[in-house]
Amino acid sequence: MRRALWLLLLIALPAAAGKSCVDCHAGSAERSYALSKHGVIARIEAGRERRRTPDCGGCHGYEAKAPAPQHYVTKNSRNEAREQAGAACGACHSPRYVAEQLAAAQRGLAIGEMKRREAEAVVAAARKELKDAEMAHIESLLATLRDENLRDLRLGLAHQSPDYQWWLGQAALDGGLLRIKGALGEARRRDRRQ
Ligand code: HEC
Ligand code: HEC
Ligand code: HEC
Repeated sequence: MRRALWLLLLIALPAAAGKSCVDCHAGSAERSYALSKHGVIARIEAGRERRRTPDCGGCHGYEAKAPAPQHYVTKNSRNEAREQAGAACGACHSPRYVAEQLAAAQRGLAIGEMKRREAEAVVAAARKELKDAEMAHIESLLATLRDENLRDLRLGLAHQSPDYQWWLGQAALDGGLLRIKGALGEARRRDRRQ
């Protein structure tokens, strides 16, 4: 068992060393950056010697230095990495601008969390009255809201992507909440008819 693990590590290490961030973080992490002003300008200026906007490592200095696929050795080091990423803005933007951006992100996330809590509360109430078979679809809607829509919002706020903040973030959370309430209403009507 141990030997198999070592072997895995030996295979994984050189492979990881040659990989760029987006090889492993495709999907919303990559796209939210690509759709941000930073990402758009970086693409336009890709051939230039001096680029104005940061690439992944420009903000994620911690991960750029820590070997993937295990950037973080302890729980604390993930927090340290988070702080470093948040502090990177100051290299290019004024402290006032950065403080405004971070405050706006916190407000946006608080609204998203409010929607998650509302969804969790209506689903928790439904669990007490509906059968497991009826709940399966509703639980999957809740999982999408919590694990995908809320993550997209977080990435949109972290990466200053309007698309991810609004259409894939807040609007998607609103849509998820409506779908959950709609599915619950239908299940209750079905129950009453039976
Ligand atoms: C070989 C694959 C690989 C590469 C290359 C890689 N990562 Fe990761 N990354 C991972 C894995 C696996 C995790 C989660 C495990 C962990 O805690 O390290 C992760 C976690 C992260 C997280 C935290 C995500 C979360 O949901 O908490 C960030 C941020 C991150 N990586 C950024 C980067 C950046 C920026 C780069 C490029 C400088 C990079 N990664 C390169 C595999 C990779
Ligand atoms: C303008 C700075 C900036 C750039 C550029 C940037 N990030 Fe981030 N990213 C952040 C900040 C700030 C956070 C939130 C703090 C954290 O989670 O570390 C974050 C969060 C993340 C997360 C974690 C999201 C979660 O689920 O919690 C991942 C993964 C990630 N970034 C990957 C990338 C990748 C890949 C790139 C390049 C394609 C990139 N970032 C470019 C600033 C940046
Ligand atoms: C390497 C320099 C650099 C770093 C680091 C950087 N930015 Fe930027 N950022 C820029 C440039 C350049 C622009 C484009 C300015 C312009 O022409 O509007 C920009 C644009 C933005 C915009 C879009 C403004 C608009 O008009 O739409 C936001 C928001 C932003 N940055 C926030 C941040 C935050 C928050 C961080 C840290 C997590 C950060 N930036 C890190 C250089 C940087």
